[in-house]
Amino acid sequence: MNNQNWVWWKHGVFYHIYPQSYCDSNSDGIGDINGIIRKLDYLSELGITAIWLSPIYESPMHDCGYDVSDYKKIDPVFGPLDDFKCLLKQAHERRIRVVMDLVMNHTSHFHSWFVESRSSRDNPKRDWYIWKEGLNGRKPNNWRSAYGKRAWEYDELTGQYYLHTFFTEMPDLNWRNKDMRKAFFSEVRFWLDLGVDGFRLDVINLIVKDKKFRNNPLYFGIPWIQKHLYTRNRPKSLKITWQLRKLLDEYDDRMSVGEIYALPPGNPATVADYLGSGDNSIHLAFDFSLIFQPWSAKRYHNCLKKWYSHIPENGWACNVLSNHDLSRSISRFGRSRHHLEKSKVLAVLLLTIKGTPFIYYGEEIGMTNGRLKKNQIVDPLGKRFWPFFKGRDRARTPMQWSPAINAGFSIHTPWLPVNEDYLELNVKVESRNPDSILNLYRSLIFLRNDEVILQSGDWVPVINGEKGILAYSRVLGKEQILVLLNFRNRTMKIPVPFPVNGYVLISTHRWGGSRLKPVEDIIFPYEATVLRMNT
Ligand code: GLC
Ligand code: CA
Repeated sequence: MNNQNWVWWKHGVFYHIYPQSYCDSNSDGIGDINGIIRKLDYLSELGITAIWLSPIYESPMHDCGYDVSDYKKIDPVFGPLDDFKCLLKQAHERRIRVVMDLVMNHTSHFHSWFVESRSSRDNPKRDWYIWKEGLNGRKPNNWRSAYGKRAWEYDELTGQYYLHTFFTEMPDLNWRNKDMRKAFFSEVRFWLDLGVDGFRLDVINLIVKDKKFRNNPLYFGIPWIQKHLYTRNRPKSLKITWQLRKLLDEYDDRMSVGEIYALPPGNPATVADYLGSGDNSIHLAFDFSLIFQPWSAKRYHNCLKKWYSHIPENGWACNVLSNHDLSRSISRFGRSRHHLEKSKVLAVLLLTIKGTPFIYYGEEIGMTNGRLKKNQIVDPLGKRFWPFFKGRDRARTPMQWSPAINAGFSIHTPWLPVNEDYLELNVKVESRNPDSILNLYRSLIFLRNDEVILQSGDWVPVINGEKGILAYSRVLGKEQILVLLNFRNRTMKIPVPFPVNGYVLISTHRWGGSRLKPVEDIIFPYEATVLRMNT
């Protein structure tokens, strides 16, 4: 914190925790809040500014907590509210902010609002959800859920259909209803009053649907491949984010980061829309384009360039390599093909590009996708689409803390199996190895926390991916930090004037403090080097 203009959600480093899988304190095999509290010192030593917790609200756990049945309660599996208050206090004492997940698109069908809404057509909460009459005995329109099935479910009791963008057990809220909005925002206030620092907004671009319920156009005439014209990115959802922003602005120093649901390969233009002009909408928004890139320096360059070109003048970028829905970043590039080296290149990239970095738990130790058998699958998506898609559990396996039983996550059998590689890939073993991914992450985070240039300097491309090399400078006034990344498993000659007037800050291949010599104007296989340039 060497800068008066330091803004935690712009200049800090975020860490995403999947609470079920982080640390189990009461030996029931499921991670919990107390477990997170136990690991706050670890996070503090890693240099983390803020943690974002996937949902911990009361939930029947049909979708691992993204189906909330009471927004004001913590699910007993994670511990009582007092544990959460203790987490807030202990995190804040360590200057770590706490960001919760906020699921605005839908609730669980067990939420009392839906139970009431469903009970009769004239219930005062009927319109809090999206109910429609069938059309000549058929579904109200052609809308499909995110997973391809019809998005309407017939409810016998009142003879109407309700809308669900995701699972049947997760009915969509009606954000056009003012009373619902008021009630929802009052739940949000509950957490803000308690001291929560912000929210990650689940599928925020899906929360409003077409008022006229028009049919979505189809691609190639195939009913389940539709263009979600009337079900996503409706202008009204931007208005609601504005209302939410105003609510957050009533409090001191709070933030929001939106998940913008877009199909691969990502959609930076739409994501940037949700940033408004930078100060009248959500604070940050995720674009997943980087995640969907093949291993190519050129593609990464193009992707970053495009992303930054869309960020509004007063807006701020953020960057992410993986999350609880997608493959672990290290596993995307194949197990045997130098995945450790590649993950180090990615670590240097994530922590040195412009925009707030989000690290997914376990990424810092190089955790790989879990390999689960059919009977170990918990994710309903995996159950539904096995063996074509094995679900999202692969990226949700228990955090690997040590070579002890169950990787030190729990003494009870964990809710998902621990990865086989935990004996080598774990916090304890890696802490002792100066070349580990963990120690690289630590040094990078500390460097970023120390260097205002890395937090807020401009991003200036130097080598745009030619010959597999990506190089860029971060520039602030007269100061400059140069980053050189070799995406290839080959020693390459650097195709730009050789940077001899700098010294190494961090490198996978060179000593810290050393200078590059013109006689060896080469970059080693998968080298990632950060240099401070003398100007
Ligand atoms: C988001 C969440 C995902 C969840 C879905 C429905 O995409 O990240 O885990 O299943 O929303 O809430
Ligand atoms: Ca537990």
